[in-house]
Amino acid sequence: MPEGRNPEEKRIIRIAMENGQGHLFRFWDELSAPEKDELIDDVKSIDFDRLREAVKLLKAQRKPKGHFTLPEIIRADIEESEPGLYQKARVMGENLIKDGRVAVFTAAGGQSTRLGLDIPKGCFPVTPIKRKTLFQVFAEKIIFMRERFRSVFPWIIMTSETNHQQTIDFFEQNNFFGLEAENVWFIIQEMFPSVDGEGRIFLREKNRIFKNPTGHGGTINALFSSGVLERLEKAGVESIFYFQVDNVLVKVLDPVYLGLHKLRGAEMSSKCVRKKDVNEKMGVFASLDGKPVVVEYSEADLLDDPEKGYTRADFMYGNIAVHIIETAFVKRLVSNGIELPFHVAFKKIPHMDDNGNKINPAAPNGYKFETFIFDALAFAERSLVVETIRREEFSPLKNREGDDSPQMVERDQLLMFAGWFEEAGIPVERMDDGLPVYRLEVSPRFAPFKEYFLEKIDRNIRVEGDTYIE
Ligand code: UTP
Repeated sequence: MPEGRNPEEKRIIRIAMENGQGHLFRFWDELSAPEKDELIDDVKSIDFDRLREAVKLLKAQRKPKGHFTLPEIIRADIEESEPGLYQKARVMGENLIKDGRVAVFTAAGGQSTRLGLDIPKGCFPVTPIKRKTLFQVFAEKIIFMRERFRSVFPWIIMTSETNHQQTIDFFEQNNFFGLEAENVWFIIQEMFPSVDGEGRIFLREKNRIFKNPTGHGGTINALFSSGVLERLEKAGVESIFYFQVDNVLVKVLDPVYLGLHKLRGAEMSSKCVRKKDVNEKMGVFASLDGKPVVVEYSEADLLDDPEKGYTRADFMYGNIAVHIIETAFVKRLVSNGIELPFHVAFKKIPHMDDNGNKINPAAPNGYKFETFIFDALAFAERSLVVETIRREEFSPLKNREGDDSPQMVERDQLLMFAGWFEEAGIPVERMDDGLPVYRLEVSPRFAPFKEYFLEKIDRNIRVEGDTYIE
């Protein structure tokens, strides 16, 4: 047993040993005093009770099947189904923005492993002409809404240890894209250890344990532990407009959506789009024994139950991870000690083996535990799902190539802008694949979404080359 240097260290080492994590001290005798301090700090931060529960999931039986039905969904053609509702919701949403009763939230704590970046994903350039980064696009959408509604609201950005400093540096280098630093609040989400098949925590260095950010579900705890929840309450912010950093098309603070959410008295709302086909890798909305849930693509077989009269093809409303979450709901979750459930992901985990060799595995070798924000839906007294149009609102940046790649994200923006021009009566020459011949880009400061573009655009302009509207 390694010798702790004082009673406190001895206690920490003993607890780790009792929890089957004694191997973390394998290199103890080789470590310098500051390195020992770091290892002790890492081990001290482990919540062993929660880890024990998480590790049980590795051997858990599959979830029992319940009875799935389609949840109520407000359709995109809302004016046809409920005349007048659109306008009513819009006014209501606009008032919320004017009164400063909303905040914007971006989940940006992920590691972008599929894209393989060494910068935070939000720093990735995405727009077709100006090569604006995701963060700049969101900042400009926020600036537009602030100016239009003469309102000020905070933008909360959740990072994780792995990208926190880089994110802040990026905002500082870019003067917060025109926002005031005091209105951009950075919060860090928690991390949780990753383990091998036996539940043993990996070492990433001889004196550091391997942790991963706890998934976008970490939002709930991060809002609370950072003190932001309290600040929002004090500022009278009722609703948090949540989206994820990878979706350039998000309609930040969409007034109609905000209004529908409020009119229905929802604690948490969601937006969805029709899946392209049943095999598209997207989580879908369903109701499980009456409770709203998102069934992940990897668990879609839960939805195949012909005996109960349904298959996965009946659940085609894909989750685009744009939520409105009431501040009071977050408060209720944390005050009642509600933890979102862990999901297990089998991943490649670079680590230090027992002989002190650094291993970069070619295939998955360990388990990460993550929570998902949509699991909060099950705790909401009332929730709402609103269908929307994919072309206008969803194009996530996930992969290096193929679907959801930078190329596709650029393509989706070009198609969306081309549609806006045409709807305004401005002809757009298109190629055989539908893409416009010339590149088009609309600055979010001119119009962050179509409604505003149609209101403002000079219909006499002509597209005779690459065209940027600002
Ligand atoms: P993804 O699950 O797609 O992860 O996150 P990712 O980091 O973007 O990419 P991969 O899976 O490593 O390739 C969806 C959104 O949730 C955020 C991400 O930043 C992204 O906006 N997220 C994810 C967090 O905020 N925290 C996390 O722990 C995980």
